[in-house]
Amino acid sequence: MKVDKLDKAMREKLRRWERREKDKDQFKVVEEVFDTATVKTILELIRRRVIRRLNGVVSSGKESRVYLAYSPLNEPLAVKIYLTSTTEFKRGIYKYIIGDPRFEKMSFKDTRSLIIAWAHKEFRNLKRMMEAGVKVPKPVTCLNNVLVMEFLGDDSYRYPLLVEAYRDLSEDELRQVFQLVCSELEKIVCSAELVHGDLSEYNIMVKPNLDIAVIDVSQAVELSHPRALEFLNRDVENIYKFFVKEAKLDVQREELKGRIEPCLRKRGVLF
Ligand SMILES: Nc1ncnc2c1ncn2[C@@H]1O[C@H](COP(=O)(O)OP(=O)(O)OP(=O)(O)O)[C@@H](O)[C@H]1O
Ligand SMILES: [Mg+2]
Repeated sequence: MKVDKLDKAMREKLRRWERREKDKDQFKVVEEVFDTATVKTILELIRRRVIRRLNGVVSSGKESRVYLAYSPLNEPLAVKIYLTSTTEFKRGIYKYIIGDPRFEKMSFKDTRSLIIAWAHKEFRNLKRMMEAGVKVPKPVTCLNNVLVMEFLGDDSYRYPLLVEAYRDLSEDELRQVFQLVCSELEKIVCSAELVHGDLSEYNIMVKPNLDIAVIDVSQAVELSHPRALEFLNRDVENIYKFFVKEAKLDVQREELKGRIEPCLRKRGVLF
């Protein structure tokens, strides 16, 4: 969608809200994502000079949309907006929240609180991973259900996901990417002390000069989470299967496991 159209829609929605019209349109969703509260949040981000404008959609998933935005200094930013949740989404995320000590004190009286908590969980996970040296987009801020982070791309084009890029890579390059993934996995587990929980070719971006970035970390849990090992095993399997079956590379599961086993053992965790 064009920027001016989007801005206009948002402004119009806010104007209506401020007038507190009884009009039932007030509660209609503008462009699906933009319910009144989201419009207010985006306008607040503009007021706080975090973003200057929102550009088009980079990706639209079921539960969230990612937009390209620009900072007042014209730096590209990725704005991930969590949509109001569906029952399916709620069911899906409870397993990551229950058992996470960071969520213990939080009450989820309504859907919106849950979505806001989920967005903040991704923000905190990004910060923690970045501080541990994991290659993730740099988090900028999180306000309500809107997460702002570094845009990974050239001009206004995002970098490809591994699933999109691997066919253009040579065997040698794929092997290098595999080593990079092993190294990121090690940093996530051993330095950030987290488990990604959805690590796959869909959540790894391939940057120029054969570098990678790990994205989509909302579901990441602490190593102390009761299901951390189950999620970690699934991450390892996903990566291993992708490189063997899709990328046709002769790699061993142990190459991934070997990187994380020593630090898990140190913590008394058997993998
Ligand atoms: N920082 C970023 N820079 C550029 N593009 C991004 C960034 N973060 C996410 N994207 C793009 O948006 C897509 C969706 O983001 P993400 O994986 O975080 O959300 P998701 O909840 O998995 O959404 P989906 O259901 O669409 O996979 C990514 O596959 C990627 O194409
Ligand atoms: Mg994703």
